Amino acid sequence: MPETIVSGMRPTGKLHLGHLHGALGNWVRLQESYRCFFFVADWHALTTGKTSAETIRESGEEMLLDWLSAGLDPQRSVIFRQSDVKEHAELHLLFSMITPTPWLIRNPTVKEQARELGYIESDDEAEVTKINYGLLGYPVLQAADILMYKAHRVPVGVDQVPHIEITREIARRFNSVYREIFPEPQPLLTEIPKVPGTDGRKMSKSYGNAVVLSDPPEEIDARLSKMMTDPKRARRRDPGEPADCPAFNLHRLYCTPEEIAFVSHGCRTAEIGCLDCKKVMIKHVLDELATFREKRLSWEQHRDDVRDVLREGGRQAKVIAQQTMEEVREVVGV
Ligand code: TRP
Ligand code: SF4
Repeated sequence: MPETIVSGMRPTGKLHLGHLHGALGNWVRLQESYRCFFFVADWHALTTGKTSAETIRESGEEMLLDWLSAGLDPQRSVIFRQSDVKEHAELHLLFSMITPTPWLIRNPTVKEQARELGYIESDDEAEVTKINYGLLGYPVLQAADILMYKAHRVPVGVDQVPHIEITREIARRFNSVYREIFPEPQPLLTEIPKVPGTDGRKMSKSYGNAVVLSDPPEEIDARLSKMMTDPKRARRRDPGEPADCPAFNLHRLYCTPEEIAFVSHGCRTAEIGCLDCKKVMIKHVLDELATFREKRLSWEQHRDDVRDVLREGGRQAKVIAQQTMEEVREVVGV
């Protein structure tokens, strides 16, 4: 039996190139060798404040379309929506009974998020108690997501490692208070390239510098054509240095060694202009997205099938979740 993997994403709407080279691309590969559960973490989306009902629903569906178009395969992986499997809420509740508050108060990821959102001003303990329970308890719900399926590994970014540590602590405590039911999952950290946004900062929806996977090719072309370059190349005849050029980080990801050598030389000698240089890279980006785009358009025309994927995934997840909850209720006595 292959090892089990669980991972989720909060519904953020349409995904961008950073996701494709990060979590999503990784998930697609992991399907080859693991038994995978991937879910839309819509309850977790509510922890950071009210979002309209339409936004939650629609952004979940758009994200799911991107998952399927990038190659997450419902024949291989269980793909579902967190709120469709109510057992997660029940397990979260039972876990909350054995989770000491200090574990949550020290969690650096939650505090950083609360600070970014302006809920707190500092990391002082008194300040941290102002955080809504939902956000403070975020890692407890996440522990329920993971332990429900007795996952061995959890593919996440480094920012999530404190959450997985709490999952492990909760598993350990549950096992010692009640009975050995849960394995202690390990974070699965994969080296992923940093994808620069069009302004050179990390690609992120909130920075407005993202290349959205489902945008029309013309738009992607236009955005990348305007991407920031080495400021020394203010004029066409000014030579530049690829190492100082944000766009060149995309060349590194996408171009062949020959192309890299060609554009680097052309940049340093000003034999080519930035637009010529970028064209070499843009072609690869558009090629990579061509299959994605085709699949996306086809899923968009069959939105009912997308809902079927969720229904079937939810059904499969529930089978396992119910088994786990029977064990849990039995040892807890409820
Ligand atoms: N906290 C994760 C994030 O923000 C999303 C998430 C929720 C998750 N539940 C999970 C990830 C369980 C892995 C496993 O990215
Ligand atoms: Fe960047 Fe290419 Fe312009 Fe050089 S020529 S600054 S590498 S885009």
